[in-house]
Amino acid sequence: MDQRPSSRLSGFYRQSLEQRLATVADWAGLDDADLAALRAGLSVEQANHLVENALGLFALPLGLGVNFLINGRDYLIPMAVEEPSVIAAVSNAARLARAGDGFRAGSSEALMIGQVQLLQVPDPQRAEQAILAAEPRLAALIDPLHPSLRRAGGGFRGLEVRHLPDTPAGPMVIVHLLLDCRDAMGANAVNTAAEAAAPLLEALSGGRARLRILSNLSDRRLAWASCQIPLHAFASDAVEGAQVAAGIVEANAFAWADPYRAATHNKGIMNGIDPLAIATGNDWRALEAGAHAYAARDGQYRALTDWRLLTGEEGEPALAGRIELPLAVGIVGGATKAHPTAQAALKILGVTSARQLAEVMAAVGLAQNLSALRALAAEGIQAGHMALHARHVALAAGAPPDLVEQVAAQLIAEGQIRAARAAEILATRADD
Ligand code: MEV
Repeated sequence: MDQRPSSRLSGFYRQSLEQRLATVADWAGLDDADLAALRAGLSVEQANHLVENALGLFALPLGLGVNFLINGRDYLIPMAVEEPSVIAAVSNAARLARAGDGFRAGSSEALMIGQVQLLQVPDPQRAEQAILAAEPRLAALIDPLHPSLRRAGGGFRGLEVRHLPDTPAGPMVIVHLLLDCRDAMGANAVNTAAEAAAPLLEALSGGRARLRILSNLSDRRLAWASCQIPLHAFASDAVEGAQVAAGIVEANAFAWADPYRAATHNKGIMNGIDPLAIATGNDWRALEAGAHAYAARDGQYRALTDWRLLTGEEGEPALAGRIELPLAVGIVGGATKAHPTAQAALKILGVTSARQLAEVMAAVGLAQNLSALRALAAEGIQAGHMALHARHVALAAGAPPDLVEQVAAQLIAEGQIRAARAAEILATRADD
């Protein structure tokens, strides 16, 4: 495994924009073209080739999550997101996780599911047998459609038959075609396979094929991440680490028991995952759909993470967290290739496979969740937002870097975070 500098970039947020670009260029070996892509990204001309009826561009801030240690390797995380606090929060959680050697992450094979819906099947059980027996024929039909996938070691991996006996449109037989998509997200390959297989499936079942499309509940393409953080890492002047960790466990139990809370809990997880998906040119709507469907897999919508206290019988007491979710992402094809910023983002990440990207994403989701639960269980979420807001207001009022923190602290202490007040504070300091 290659050795990279530590991603623990203390005080990165205090650097100027130019300094930050220089730091990351140095860290990740970026060239001028990469830096230009980070600054400006897609051109209108490129956008015009990507979508129909193009008018222009819609920009999002691109920032950097720092401090990540995943499977013993340092990562910087490019994140495209407009919501303040997300990047600061995830970086904070990643710093906390370093107290327990960071994150462990893993993933399954990149198996995508293509669905073929068969209607008016005269004998669903016989159809199932005939379809399952035709697996070699389906492989022979599907694999030649995807030579590059085959060259990369992927391709058709098998099939499943499911029965929906009671729907308003009558009984249905649903065939799942499984394709290993390797480093591609795979939507095109899967949809092509489903369409190509449909006539043979009609002949085998005696039914009529209707939909032929991938499933976004890609539960054969999972990624997971975990961490174990010693309780002392959560301690502050105001509160003991054990108390914060107990609050996180209580928050977790709430999200497992109540879908209203679980939706917000999982939204917080996607606060980390979506910005990384966007920055790398991946389809974040697909990830959202997969994550939420997976969260409801046992019939009740639940949290995608789990947090437990480890009592410390085998060492220091710790908080253990785990996430598992479908993450159908690619590092080749689609916007990943077409978007210059996505290319630069992948270079910063330094991932060499889609599975590795999914593993990093799972760790980022777990860290984002940790940061939200930690804040919610301790001081509440607004304190952090206010601190950041106050810093922004101080900066906007012209505070020099060495005064930003002091001015922000005074704005918070006075309970009025306004540009006019920040300017007054700065003026009095200039008079001093
Ligand atoms: C806000 O964008 C996300 C949170 O609401 C997540 C959560 O409540 O766990 C803070």
